[in-house]
Amino acid sequence: MHFWEVVFDGSIGSAFPLHSLSWRLQMKRLFCVFALLLLAPIYAISLNPSLNDDVLGLIVFKADIQDPNGKLVSWNEEDDTPCNWVGVKCNPRSNRVIELVLDDFSLSGRIRRGLLQLQFIQKLSLAKNNLTGSISLSLAQLENLRVIDLSENSLSGPIPGDFFQQCGSLRSISLANNKFSGQIPDSLSSCSTLAAINFSSNQFLGSLPPGIWSLLALRSLDLSNNLLDGEIPEGIEGLNNLRTINLGKNQFSGQIPDGIGGCLLLRSIDFSENSLSGDLPTSMQKLTLCTDLNLRKNSFVGEVPEWIGELKRLETLDLSENSFSGQVPTSIGQLQSLKVLNISMNAFTESLPESMINCKNLLALDISWNLLTGSLPSWVFELDLQKVLLSGNKVSGSMDSLFSSWMENLNQKLQVLDLSQNALSGEIPSAVGNFSGLLFLNLSRNSLIGNIPASIGESKALNILDLSENQLNGSIPSEIGGAVSLKELRLEKNSLAGNIPLSIENCSSLTSLILSQNNLTGQIPAAIAKLNYLQTADLSFNKLTGSLPKQLANLPGLISFNISHNQLEGDLPVGGFFNTISPSSVSGNPSLCGSVVNKTCRTVLPKPIVLNPNSSDSTPGTIPQNLGHKKIILSISALIAIGAAAVIVIGVIAITVLNLHVRASTSRSAAALTLSGGDDFSHSPTTDGNSGKLVMFSGDPDFSTGAHALLNKDCELGRGGFGAVYRTVLGDGRPVAIKKLTVSSLVKSQEDFEREVKKLGKIRHQNLVALEGYYWTSSLQLLIHEFVSGGSLYKHLHEGLGKNFLSWNERFNIILGTAKSLAYLHQMNIIHYNLKSSNILIDGSGEPKVSDFGLARLLPMLDRYVLSSKIQSALGYMAPEFACRTVKITEKCDVYGFGVLVLEVVTGKRPVEYMEDDVVVLCDMVRGALEEGRVEECVDRKLQGNFPAEEAIPVMKLGLICTSQVPSNRPDMGEVVNILELIRCPSEGQEELV
Ligand SMILES: *[C@@H]1O[C@H](CO)[C@@H](O)[C@H](O)[C@H]1NC(C)=O
Ligand SMILES: *[C@@H]1O[C@H](CO)[C@@H](O)[C@H](O)[C@H]1NC(C)=O
Repeated sequence: MHFWEVVFDGSIGSAFPLHSLSWRLQMKRLFCVFALLLLAPIYAISLNPSLNDDVLGLIVFKADIQDPNGKLVSWNEEDDTPCNWVGVKCNPRSNRVIELVLDDFSLSGRIRRGLLQLQFIQKLSLAKNNLTGSISLSLAQLENLRVIDLSENSLSGPIPGDFFQQCGSLRSISLANNKFSGQIPDSLSSCSTLAAINFSSNQFLGSLPPGIWSLLALRSLDLSNNLLDGEIPEGIEGLNNLRTINLGKNQFSGQIPDGIGGCLLLRSIDFSENSLSGDLPTSMQKLTLCTDLNLRKNSFVGEVPEWIGELKRLETLDLSENSFSGQVPTSIGQLQSLKVLNISMNAFTESLPESMINCKNLLALDISWNLLTGSLPSWVFELDLQKVLLSGNKVSGSMDSLFSSWMENLNQKLQVLDLSQNALSGEIPSAVGNFSGLLFLNLSRNSLIGNIPASIGESKALNILDLSENQLNGSIPSEIGGAVSLKELRLEKNSLAGNIPLSIENCSSLTSLILSQNNLTGQIPAAIAKLNYLQTADLSFNKLTGSLPKQLANLPGLISFNISHNQLEGDLPVGGFFNTISPSSVSGNPSLCGSVVNKTCRTVLPKPIVLNPNSSDSTPGTIPQNLGHKKIILSISALIAIGAAAVIVIGVIAITVLNLHVRASTSRSAAALTLSGGDDFSHSPTTDGNSGKLVMFSGDPDFSTGAHALLNKDCELGRGGFGAVYRTVLGDGRPVAIKKLTVSSLVKSQEDFEREVKKLGKIRHQNLVALEGYYWTSSLQLLIHEFVSGGSLYKHLHEGLGKNFLSWNERFNIILGTAKSLAYLHQMNIIHYNLKSSNILIDGSGEPKVSDFGLARLLPMLDRYVLSSKIQSALGYMAPEFACRTVKITEKCDVYGFGVLVLEVVTGKRPVEYMEDDVVVLCDMVRGALEEGRVEECVDRKLQGNFPAEEAIPVMKLGLICTSQVPSNRPDMGEVVNILELIRCPSEGQEELV
């Protein structure tokens, strides 16, 4: 051993990469040889080299596959024997591997040669993994291998032609649920010991290998769900061990071979979903052990032979979707074990034989879509059936009598009853409510009359009720609310009258409510808005009146809501699904209004910002021709507008008072964080668990040293719609701005709040004020922002901050920077909602930095009323759609605000100026001046004589286009940036603006 270590460490070890597997294996083998040579007398037995063949084989196998869950960690190449490895089983006497079972280990990769080393393996199972590639090695040549299971992997490619050539003692092979393709190799017939073959759910094609019926030991053959075609070859009669044959879901054609009757032990035959034709071979009557016969979806023709009654063990007989015709044979009554009979979609005629009363075990009967006539045989009601499907026949008779016979022997097991599309008449008997287990009832498309029985409310389990397309009248019984499990209710195309019952709200699982084409009257009950799972509602073609309940907009899953052709009035609900409702779903209601029906509603709340007395702006986007007024005269509408403004002022005062109140209570509850001047902030929020949670996105935790100034009134920078802003300094001396959010009750849950804030924290742009962190307690929320030193644009423009007024270049730069920041926000799907000059900060180098973006997302609901009250202060910037409940608010509201801002920057005037006897709306003034060709006079007086008109005029025109009344007429911010850049550098291609 000593000698060996020297060699190992000294000369060879340095020459080879230590971790190379093959090298290590070679060394191991070398070691064994050396050991044998040197120590043969003592170690010969325990270091048997063939023992390592299994280790070697398995390690090579492992090297080719990925093992993401580390299932094979116990497989250590240093071990002398693999017998204790997971998935490995050895023969205790020989210590050779006899089983390798690695099912469901999440292994991927390819199966390569390693396994061929396992000369004594009997069972190889790698099922339910993710193995890929083809299998090139001839596993079948392992002479002891009896079981191969590679099912449920992603193996592909054809099986090599000689794969089964030296098929030793293989008894079972499953390749099911892979992606194998090509033909099934002919060599399969050499595996004379094979008892089970499962090649199902692959892509094997071509015909069956001719030798397949020479596998006389075969008990089970499953080739279903492949692409096999051609005829089923003759010669099957030799397989007298065959129990199960499944050739379903292929493309086999021709007839069932006559020899099948020789397979006397057959229990299950599945030839479904092929193109087999002809009639059933007579020899099949010998298959008396057969329990399952499935011939569904082929092209069989002719009558079903009387001998079918010989197959006395039959439990499932499926002949559906063929072209069988004639009468159902009487002998079917001899099938006393029959549980499922499906003969749907054939051309059977007359009625079902009375003999079927003997099929005592029958549970499911599907005879739908045939040409059956007469009335329903009474035995249908005397057996304990769970499913009765006979839709699409010509069964006639009165429902009353049908049910009365049923009632004599009430079947509590009935779950599914489909009598639709027949010729049934009479009233629906109230006994229908007595089937306590009923899940599905379809009586649609018959000739039923009378009322819907109130007893339907007794059907507590009922999921689906379809009574559509009959002649039912009366009203929908309010008892329907008792059917609490209803998911689908279809009553369309009847003559139902009266109101939609309020009790419908009890059917809280409803996803589909179809009541169209009746004579329903009254209002659409708000109760419908409580059906939280509702996806489809069709109330069209009735006589419903009144307005739509606003709460409908809260239905989260709505996909379709058709109320067309009624007499509804008023405006449509706003928000949710109703923002995208299609016009055809609301048409035919002359008094309905809203943008979807292209009709403005008369009663709109006072508009907070539309102070334009002559607003008839019909073609926004171009500069209107009819606004040639210079001075706005106090018209009646202007007086109304001023009145509205006064209301708003009062509103603002009220909200401010409320805010103060909330703030007062907030400061009481958050004792550590008070607003009182000079009050020391003694606890660090990061250390005091009760104080809340502080998160800095940059990972900067040292907030405590500057925390004393947190919310110190002396450091207050300003206030906005969302709260007051303070300045403080971080531990590293860096100043930050802290925004204390007011009206905490309006803030979302902590989880929602944090999610939104984190999203905002990811927004970084040179023209946006970065959000650096936040602080949360349930009563107090702070946002920590980058501190920008130069003051707001508002102060620069209107309060003469910084003595030097802004030059044209500086102004242009501010406009362009702001545009870029908005374009970026919109690209990130964030709407600013609150753009105004006091929200734009100017940094030391004159760059604009937009703040307060996206804060509306922190509100529990993006409700326009809450929104407009929160951003009251943005008077003049607020897009007109905020006042119009039928228009969806999009990022175009920012474009409007931007347009106003552009005019403000160029003219130096506030968006709305209140004069002694006049209200001047900035964009109207500029628009008027433009009409009169004096737009240059609008430019800020401080700039007069000192600005390039070829830039200023197009910029003002751009501002006007951005303030178009109709959102879709405003450009998007990306376009705005492009236009601004063109204005600056006309050489790069001039684009004429208006
Ligand atoms: C199997 O592998 C494919 C491709 O690598 C992968 O997409 C898939 O998620 C894997 N499936 C399982 C069950 O591991
Ligand atoms: C009821 O039967 C008719 C006719 O067979 C069918 O069109 C309808 O879809 C069925 N209703 C339901 C809810 O399945």
